[in-house]
Amino acid sequence: MTHDLFEPLTLPNGQILPNRIAKAAMEENMAATGQLPGRHLDTLYRTWALGGAGLLITGNVMVHDAAMTGPAGVVLDERSPLDPFRDWAIAAHSGGGRVWMQINHPGRQVKANMPGVAWGPSTNRVNTGRTSALFAEAHAMTAEHIADTVRRFVTTAVLAQETGFDGVEVHAAHGYLLSQFLSPLTNLRTDDWGGSLHNRSRLLLDIVRGIRASVRPDFAVAVKLNSADFQRGGFDSGDAAQVISWLAPLGVDLVELSGGSYESPAMTGNADEATDRRSARTAAREAYFLELATQLVDDSPLPLMVTGGVKRLPVAQEVIDSGVAVVGMATALAYRPDLPSRWRSGAADDVTLPDIRIRDRAVASAASMSRVRHQLRRLGRGATPSPRTSALLAFGADQIREILSRRRYRRWLEHRSVENQSSSLPD
Ligand SMILES: Cc1cc2nc3c(=O)[nH]c(=O)nc-3n(C[C@H](O)[C@H](O)[C@H](O)COP(=O)(O)O)c2cc1C
Repeated sequence: MTHDLFEPLTLPNGQILPNRIAKAAMEENMAATGQLPGRHLDTLYRTWALGGAGLLITGNVMVHDAAMTGPAGVVLDERSPLDPFRDWAIAAHSGGGRVWMQINHPGRQVKANMPGVAWGPSTNRVNTGRTSALFAEAHAMTAEHIADTVRRFVTTAVLAQETGFDGVEVHAAHGYLLSQFLSPLTNLRTDDWGGSLHNRSRLLLDIVRGIRASVRPDFAVAVKLNSADFQRGGFDSGDAAQVISWLAPLGVDLVELSGGSYESPAMTGNADEATDRRSARTAAREAYFLELATQLVDDSPLPLMVTGGVKRLPVAQEVIDSGVAVVGMATALAYRPDLPSRWRSGAADDVTLPDIRIRDRAVASAASMSRVRHQLRRLGRGATPSPRTSALLAFGADQIREILSRRRYRRWLEHRSVENQSSSLPD
């Protein structure tokens, strides 16, 4: 049976999404002082809420204050003040859709110039060719680090529930920590967390189990998973099918399928063709991961969401017609936050962007993300998007902004650790 994009969807825990279009996670890099959501994020999410998507998934929120995907990211842990998160959830609910917080730990995928830690399953560094030296050397996590990380994910999920979010999405895709554990290319461990797929999945499964045991039944728990790493010998669609079957009995409500990592940025349509012959064909089909998702959908015990490349109504409907429960869009909603409402009212609007002519795939992917982030900042100021933004200029401006926000983040982290030390001193 096929469904209309605008039909409601009831998830396994009973939560109802008013339609099947989701705003996929986009790290906004717009944290206010204290790595908190603020006025600009509230305005951005109010705009998206009024744009008609049935589900808004926030950009990744960090579970560990010393491990950030970028210096202007939001952190939610037991020391965070909660009112800014409550305001964010209220703003994001102003259109009647559901709102989930994506929660993440970058693991080894952090820049070398970032303060804090670069943990990973093993010591191998991110390999992006000529730009590899930009990334930190990874420290192999101990059993204590792993237990601490499970605890952190659970804490952030519980706080997301307390501050009014309807669910969390655990980020286990795109080469971040949980995806590093899942992939045999990055996980070289020989203990309980390495070797077999079951061992490599242990951290993700423990986190999901821990969250489900600590939140209300009507609070949604979702996972973002790579349908494949798009690297030879990496996590593949057979592995994804197996992991989905292990997640189902743990009370997961939705699995979002994406793909790639910084090393092979398939999620932005820049997969490494040398290592993956499918990329040209799937990119040509616009919805990058639909082909892999359709292989998984028949046997999946869980509703699936597919994100990547969707910018046109017929493609969004094709995703749903293939048996996928939810279609995710990121870039298109940065340029047209009200695209779902427009489609619903019969408009044939879509989003087309100029090609990015940068040969290096990692840089091309980063530049395409900068171009999108530029739109997010505009929306956060209450301005309209500007479709002609140059990717190269946006990328350059992002580099400067990153230097400034790294200084601010470094001061905040130092201040926090001083506070921590003084609060743990004996009276
Ligand atoms: C600026 C930007 C930031 C992103 N941040 C995240 C993130 O925080 N978490 C995540 O899972 N994916 C993130 N993504 C990936 C998107 O969720 C999505 O998987 C990808 O952009 C492909 O979808 P699209 O073609 O609709 O943009 C980001 C993408 C962009 C463009």
